[in-house]
Amino acid sequence: MMNTEGASYVPYTTDNALPEKANIPKHIAIVMDGNGRWAKKRQLSRTEGHAEGEKSILDVIDGALEVGVQWLSLYAFSTENWRRPAEEVRYLMYFNENLLLKHRDNLHKKGVRIRFSGRRDWRIPKKLAQNMDDAMQLTKSNRALVLTICFNYGGRAEIIDAVKNIVSDGLPPEKINEKAIKSRLYYPDMPDPDLVIRTSGEYRISNFLLWEIAYSELFFSDMLWPDFRSEHLYQAIAEFQNRSRRFGRVEKDG
Ligand code: IPE
Ligand code: IPE
Ligand code: MG
Repeated sequence: MMNTEGASYVPYTTDNALPEKANIPKHIAIVMDGNGRWAKKRQLSRTEGHAEGEKSILDVIDGALEVGVQWLSLYAFSTENWRRPAEEVRYLMYFNENLLLKHRDNLHKKGVRIRFSGRRDWRIPKKLAQNMDDAMQLTKSNRALVLTICFNYGGRAEIIDAVKNIVSDGLPPEKINEKAIKSRLYYPDMPDPDLVIRTSGEYRISNFLLWEIAYSELFFSDMLWPDFRSEHLYQAIAEFQNRSRRFGRVEKDG
């Protein structure tokens, strides 16, 4: 069909949806939320909503690789998600293990380093824990993207664990500073997220990366996670590129 808008008309393609190459966030962290509501809208079970989220995860990883994001963190299971019905929790354990086994080799080929962040407690099935370790070991030399899957992760738990280490290391009060805490977080080499995205129209953090997001830009999308794709990631990046990050200072030219 002919367009009637004249020369200003730009056809929508994935290409022109790519964000500008300069100022791509180094680390993007995502709260993948809305699977249950996506399923409910279709009269499906909540677990079918989780299953549908697989496509979004893969597409967003590819999108991050495409534009050169170096660190991507995905919130997959929180320390509070154990409060869900046992059947859903069981499904999420199985789903995450399945996802890992299904895509590990392909991600490895793409140069993705897979890491898991969170507490390893007895409630995580042994076989899943073993597969998590194997994937980390297999991909540990990859450099294209560090994919951190936050699983049984809680920001408060991470800070509590850091404080425990400070105490067991015998640090005196005068040695307690940002560096002392940061160096005891689950991944001290992980840069703070530049951009945090939460889907599903909820405006909260839900115990995600509490220490690390002190100066992150926040982006809230109404999209339910199973509908989220790399083009939406690019929209978030484009908005990020228009933000002015001051870190407590005043504008350079202002
Ligand atoms: C996010 O989707 C996935 C996890 C928290 C594991 P939800 O399951 O929270 O979906 P909603 O928020 O109920 O729609
Ligand atoms: C946050 O989503 C956790 C994950 C996405 C894994 P929730 O759905 O658990 O968050 P709340 O309960 O709505 O705050
Ligand atoms: Mg939710």
